[in-house]
Amino acid sequence: MSEILICPNEKQRLFFESSARYTAYGGARGGGKSWAMRMKMVLLAVNYEGINILLLRRTLGELRENHILPLQKLLTGIAEYRESQKEFRFGNGSRIKLGYCDGESDVLQYQGQSYEVIGMEEATHFTYFQFQCLTECNRASGSMKKPFTPRMFLTANPGGVGHDWFKRLFVDRQYRGNEKAENYAFIRSLVFDNAYIMENNPEYVETLMALPEKRRAAMLYGDWNSFEGAFFPEFCEEVHVCVPFEIPPDWQRFRALDYGLDMTACLWFAISPEGRVYVYRELYESGLLLSEAAAKIRAATPRQESIRYTVASPDLWNRRQESGKSGAEIMTAAGLTGLKKAQNERINGWRIVREYLKDGEDGKSALCIFRGCDNLIRCLPLLRFDSNVREDAADTPHEITHAPEALRYGLMSRVPRSEGKKEKPLPYSRSFEGRRPEREPYRSIIDY
Ligand SMILES: Nc1ncnc2c1ncn2[C@@H]1O[C@H](COP(=O)(O)OP(=O)(O)O)[C@@H](O)[C@H]1O
Ligand SMILES: [Mg+2]
Repeated sequence: MSEILICPNEKQRLFFESSARYTAYGGARGGGKSWAMRMKMVLLAVNYEGINILLLRRTLGELRENHILPLQKLLTGIAEYRESQKEFRFGNGSRIKLGYCDGESDVLQYQGQSYEVIGMEEATHFTYFQFQCLTECNRASGSMKKPFTPRMFLTANPGGVGHDWFKRLFVDRQYRGNEKAENYAFIRSLVFDNAYIMENNPEYVETLMALPEKRRAAMLYGDWNSFEGAFFPEFCEEVHVCVPFEIPPDWQRFRALDYGLDMTACLWFAISPEGRVYVYRELYESGLLLSEAAAKIRAATPRQESIRYTVASPDLWNRRQESGKSGAEIMTAAGLTGLKKAQNERINGWRIVREYLKDGEDGKSALCIFRGCDNLIRCLPLLRFDSNVREDAADTPHEITHAPEALRYGLMSRVPRSEGKKEKPLPYSRSFEGRRPEREPYRSIIDY
């Protein structure tokens, strides 16, 4: 008979014993998160016959290093590893499947599947969309003999694309809609709780001590406020998203386009007589050739809508080697007329987007997005600060940048070119202060 002897520290024991629907663990480096997650999954597999477990990290490389290799070593003689399915099969019918969600949509492969337990390692590297999709797969799989209430386990450090949702649910404990406080438990652990590191690798603590102040506060002491979260903290669905209404025919309309074969993001804008800008439609589709994108944009625009112009990323005017024609020429030939080169000063452009998002004197913002523009609404709050260039947005994960870029092109098209270059406040009817964001830029974290 094989035996696994483990000795969890106090915090890890609390993690093992938690019976909450969602239990999170960690909050800082070296607190024994990955160890706790691995062991919890193994304990569940061994103790609950036929249980289906999914253990996830964001990328395959991380998954292999952090879990597949250590689990192979630990489970020799206990469970059989099948590389093609990336899963461990136990004699009692239990299964630990290991997976990763590199791109936003990779999570969809788990749709329709059922796992009694899901473990998300480094949960702040996952988007809220991914977390939500996974909660839908967290249900009885039908292969267990005894009843078992589905549960999810998460580990995390501050920072990353999922910083905000994780902090809201587990740190700030602010709940919306059907979310119930009693379903969320957070066991904080620091490197000081990890006796193994304190005894075997005390220099690691010195390494954490030597980090720059803010990063040290997050990584050593688990301070969730020392990391910059969203690039647009001012974005708020309650303020910036509205129920669609019929736009009067005399309002000015235009479009903004960020074209790429990986993603075509096109937004339709309308301006009210008071100068409020409404984004009322979006096209968001991958794999479209230039002519196909042009056709789709035209097809999505009813004939009676008069569109003044379509601003598009300036690289669309570069000549293509294959045809000698520019993307703009190909799109125009496909019927998308009125194309205009967008101003592409990124930092100034983001500043203008930020101004549009701020509350005006009348308590309303200058930008409103119609519910239904799902990708713009999803991606705007996910944007993060670039770790190198102050005031620019990070271009990773790349998928989330397309809709905000189109928004930037669109709003920049309302600013006269000279104004944009001089970095002056907006020519919108309200006065803006043109302030910089108050918080320090977010810096990305490399996992321990
Ligand atoms: N209870 C424990 N018993 C033995 N080793 C542990 C225990 N907890 C953590 N470790 C070891 O401490 C080190 C750091 O733990 P890890 O789980 O990788 O931390 P984190 O994921 O929080 O950065 C690893 O070598 C891990 O195997
Ligand atoms: Mg880890």
